[in-house]
Amino acid sequence: MRRATALLFALIAAVAMQSFHASPAVAQDPAGGDRLAPDKIAPLMRRKLDRAKNILEGLTLEQFDKIASNARSLRLLSMEAGWNVVQTEEYRKQSDDFRRACTSIEKAADAKDIHRAALAYVSLTVRCVDCHSYMRENKIKLATLDLRNH
Ligand code: HEC
Repeated sequence: MRRATALLFALIAAVAMQSFHASPAVAQDPAGGDRLAPDKIAPLMRRKLDRAKNILEGLTLEQFDKIASNARSLRLLSMEAGWNVVQTEEYRKQSDDFRRACTSIEKAADAKDIHRAALAYVSLTVRCVDCHSYMRENKIKLATLDLRNH
């Protein structure tokens, strides 16, 4: 478990760095569609961090209800209108993977399996980092095409 814990902290640090570097600017969706104003998107995105921190708290204190409810809340958050800031196949795939990781956490918490829940949390964290990397690359592309909001 010690190695898993070290891995967990490394990943959390990676996420912290990611969000530190994340710009609040949101790329314009070339396909159009329903979207929130960028000032509404940042708070929505930021809520992910609160939920993820709550899951970690639940994991460390073995509070399965806290783990399950926050994983559920994260999954539901990913279905809100402001989530789909870009409508690409890759973003959809990243979002699906993210929801799957949330579901794994929920299931592990329901089964009161703390180790499985911790591993699923690591996989969720990887999803955070992966999608943010994708966004950064994508933003460069969109910026080049001058499709950014501002
Ligand atoms: C499917 C894609 C995707 C996944 C998965 C994802 N994010 Fe994000 N995240 C975004 C986008 C898009 C933004 C807004 C654009 C930006 O800031 O680069 C964002 C922005 C953020 C921000 C910055 C909000 C602000 O104040 O500007 C935080 C914090 C954040 N995400 C946390 C997380 C955490 C924690 C996870 C995992 C539990 C996660 N994200 C998973 C797409 C994702």
